[in-house]
Amino acid sequence: MDLKIKINGEDWTLDVAPADTLLDVLRERVGTKSPKIGCERGDCGSCTVLIDGRSVRSCLVLAVEADGHEITTVEGISYDGLSELQTLFLENNSFQCGFCTPGIVLSATELLEQNPNPTRHDVQEALAGNLCRCTGYEPIIDAVLAAGDGGSE
Ligand code: FES
Ligand code: FES
Repeated sequence: MDLKIKINGEDWTLDVAPADTLLDVLRERVGTKSPKIGCERGDCGSCTVLIDGRSVRSCLVLAVEADGHEITTVEGISYDGLSELQTLFLENNSFQCGFCTPGIVLSATELLEQNPNPTRHDVQEALAGNLCRCTGYEPIIDAVLAAGDGGSE
């Protein structure tokens, strides 16, 4: 089946199988490795990407469902250097192993687009689908709050 999608601003036409997931296609066909293979059943959020600006778990999306849409991964928001949010994650030592990082960056980016001045509770809710086994979440949440318009709670 023909799939026409835009990935990080670049148009792609790919021949995909009906059962191929968007995660498979991004990693194995396009070479976009930031979406990580975790649980592959929608639980961990490590495969999170944005479709038309909305976060989705790419392991649960069939590639053909993304036909005609625009996909953004962490590579796509970092062409011109790190975003302010990514810089704040660095400054807050938010991550350790980094496996969860791309998904959390994208979920938090979506949150800040929709709600530029989130509360701690808003951030917790927005990141509830992104599991991190290393950090206890506090330095992640602190960085997202710092990136908000208020710069704090
Ligand atoms: S790999 Fe997709 S949610 Fe875990
Ligand atoms: S930093 Fe290791 S899983 Fe989040």
